[in-house]
Amino acid sequence: MDFALKDKTVLVTGASGGIGRALAESFLEEGARVALQGHTQFDAMQHWLAKKSADQRDRSLCLRGDLSNSDDCDQIVATISETWGRLDVCIANAGHWPPDDIPLHAMDPQRMRRTLEVNLLGSAWTARAFLKLLASTGPRDDGHGASLIFVGSTAGRYGERHHADYATAKAGLTGLMATLKHEIVDIDPFGRVNCIEPGWTVTHKARPDLLEAESLQRVLATMPLRQLGRATDIARTALYLASPTLARHVTGQTLVVAGGMEGRMRWQPGQVDENAVKQRLAQDEAPGLSRPP
Ligand SMILES: NC(=O)c1ccc[n+]([C@@H]2O[C@H](COP(=O)([O-])OP(=O)(O)OC[C@H]3O[C@@H](n4cnc5c(N)ncnc54)[C@H](OP(=O)(O)O)[C@@H]3O)[C@@H](O)[C@H]2O)c1
Repeated sequence: MDFALKDKTVLVTGASGGIGRALAESFLEEGARVALQGHTQFDAMQHWLAKKSADQRDRSLCLRGDLSNSDDCDQIVATISETWGRLDVCIANAGHWPPDDIPLHAMDPQRMRRTLEVNLLGSAWTARAFLKLLASTGPRDDGHGASLIFVGSTAGRYGERHHADYATAKAGLTGLMATLKHEIVDIDPFGRVNCIEPGWTVTHKARPDLLEAESLQRVLATMPLRQLGRATDIARTALYLASPTLARHVTGQTLVVAGGMEGRMRWQPGQVDENAVKQRLAQDEAPGLSRPP
């Protein structure tokens, strides 16, 4: 299948992470020129890339930066511009899920701020730098529109108990996408903005606790496909959304790649006290109390 991505220039943020690595690999396999952004794991990312073929290395660029800092985003995109002259596809994939389970009422404001800065503002600064460059280069002359892709999370759709910071940041991407789909066409009439929401996704950095039987039962409970997603599932979806031919008429959409997940399982088996439920119902039916219609 031809995604028409050969020689297109692509930025993958968070390419030092699990999903980002699969994204970079897939776009390199399609013949694109790929800028890989890393932060704390930058050296490991370079090491991984060094094992790729000479052809793929020649089409790659490794860039370091903290995306919660808008200057770093501008610098990364400026380097791409100096090297390749333009940027056709931008995948704002970098993100951080703070592992500690903390309800909002006990959450340090610093954690809330940092999570929003990395996941929401980091994506916004990335998009801003990309659109700024697009505004200066103008659209391609072959009619292949630019593509901006955010990587959100099902946490933004269903919420995630004890991770209000992360769920809020990811939900914010929906508003950003819905706005930027209008702004991009003022710069590039065929430009598109979309979002991918992964569910539980195994990567080379997968959290081993996900594979424990109890976790599996819990995370797969509302998923018809009863499988954990793989990083390549996200990468293939991104190839489609980035393709100026296959997804030519697709913008402002969120593709949920989560095995059909329908929400989070709130109560574990045994946590619902049937007698208490019946007792409460009987109380509500007592004389003087109104019954629901
Ligand atoms: N895996 C899942 O189950 C899952 C589910 C839903 C959504 N997602 C989303 O998918 C995306 C990728 O997740 P992943 O599983 O691949 O996570 P990961 O392995 O932890 O990778 C995260 C990436 O983001 C980068 N990053 C984090 N904070 C950064 C910052 N301040 N500045 C620059 N880069 C930063 C990391 O860079 P360094 O490591 O170099 O610091 C790394 O490359 C994230 O947005 C995540 O929220 C993942």
